[in-house]
Amino acid sequence: MSDGAAKITNKDGRTAELPILSGTHGPDVVDVRGLRKETGLFTYDPGFASTASCKSAITFIDGDEGILLHRGYPIEQLAEHSNYLEVSYLLMYGELPNQQQREQFEHTISRHTMVHENIRTFLGGFRYDAHPMAMLVGTVGAMSSFYHDSTDINNPQHREISAQRLIAKMPTLAAYCYARYTGRPLLYPDNSLSYVENFTRMMFGVPAEEYTPNPVVTSALELIMILHADHEQNASTSTVRLTGSSGANPFASIAAGIASLWGPAHGGANEAVINMLDAILYSGETIEQTIARAKDKSDPFRLMGFGHRVYKNFDPRAKLIQKMCHDLLADLGGDQPLFELAMELEKATLADEYFIERRLYPNVDFYSGIILRALDIPMNMFTVMFAISRNVGWISHWMEMHEDREFRIGRPQQIYVGAPRRDYPA
Ligand code: ACO
Repeated sequence: MSDGAAKITNKDGRTAELPILSGTHGPDVVDVRGLRKETGLFTYDPGFASTASCKSAITFIDGDEGILLHRGYPIEQLAEHSNYLEVSYLLMYGELPNQQQREQFEHTISRHTMVHENIRTFLGGFRYDAHPMAMLVGTVGAMSSFYHDSTDINNPQHREISAQRLIAKMPTLAAYCYARYTGRPLLYPDNSLSYVENFTRMMFGVPAEEYTPNPVVTSALELIMILHADHEQNASTSTVRLTGSSGANPFASIAAGIASLWGPAHGGANEAVINMLDAILYSGETIEQTIARAKDKSDPFRLMGFGHRVYKNFDPRAKLIQKMCHDLLADLGGDQPLFELAMELEKATLADEYFIERRLYPNVDFYSGIILRALDIPMNMFTVMFAISRNVGWISHWMEMHEDREFRIGRPQQIYVGAPRRDYPA
């Protein structure tokens, strides 16, 4: 794994020879673990943009080439041939399941979809207008008080049962958070339905009527969920790892990930896309005026759903979801003026020099926001949908961390820039 070394010398002349590590793909990495011991120096990297916090075998991203691999499989192939539960198995266990493993996994997940009855009561304690994300953070954290029997993080079986419970129960909890928000009755899961159908039934179904899943909605959500299942060491996944590194139980660790995802710079971006489109429609501004504002450096306005910190090429997930978005908008009715505006904006930016030069493409949030709107998923559920999908990524990283022999509690350093030592006034 080691290939060459980087030399760093401090001002006293003490030198550290830092090994260079190589992964399967991606740039080489300077292993700075010996730096402090050898030289007394440490590194400064706000935002961790130049720092690998762990070794991981789950997901690989090449932002320049627009590549996303899960356990080595390109996202395009998974989106075409797989489904969300199979991708979940792949992320968790490292290999695609054979038929028996697939059936066993689906059976296990479907047998864990119900939540403890007291969680339903617990949900009733939230204020009538609580945001579904606020309820989800709270109830997932509270799961540790209901499932004590699987919170020994040093027991691999406990870790696996917790992981399965989290995957199985997250759609139930998410649908219940929405039902509480709207005042609708909480339906029990129906294990004869698929993972996604079960969720949409609990979201939109009512006890007074038979629920018939809509195949267009099911396949659109299945795709969105596959595309959001994991994205290596993003903010929420790193939060789950950092929280879990202290030995916190899995439910508490995943609740921390949900809290991180909630921020508009992370999971809230697709909601921001719809807000922006609504605002443009409301103001009566033309596409040309909107684009001119986005380019104007004296105006803080940016086009939401364009550009990406990692992808400087078309986000491969956006490419996949773009086609579904175009098909859906052609088939479904709904908010036509908003959809037309979105498509005009997409076309105009893809032909605009400013966006081409800076490699600013529509990102996955641009299309997922529009699709979720077209599917009548309420805006305050957009980030919740993301949380249901990313849940398996968080869990897989949490499990991988606990199996990693190099794993230590996460504890970054700092550059202290406060007052020098001084005495309390006498
Ligand atoms: N609209 C207009 N101009 C933009 C946009 C945009 N959406 N994004 C970047 N630019 C411009 C910048 O002004 C800058 O121009 P300059 O070189 O003339 O100064 C150039 O493109 C590079 O921008 P950076 O901010 O350096 O790019 P960075 O990679 O740091 O930012 C980010 C990525 C934060 C996603 C940015 O593109 C953005 O704000 N996009 C809109 C918000 C959004 O859609 N976020 C969701 C991203 S997906 C996710 O992270 C979950």
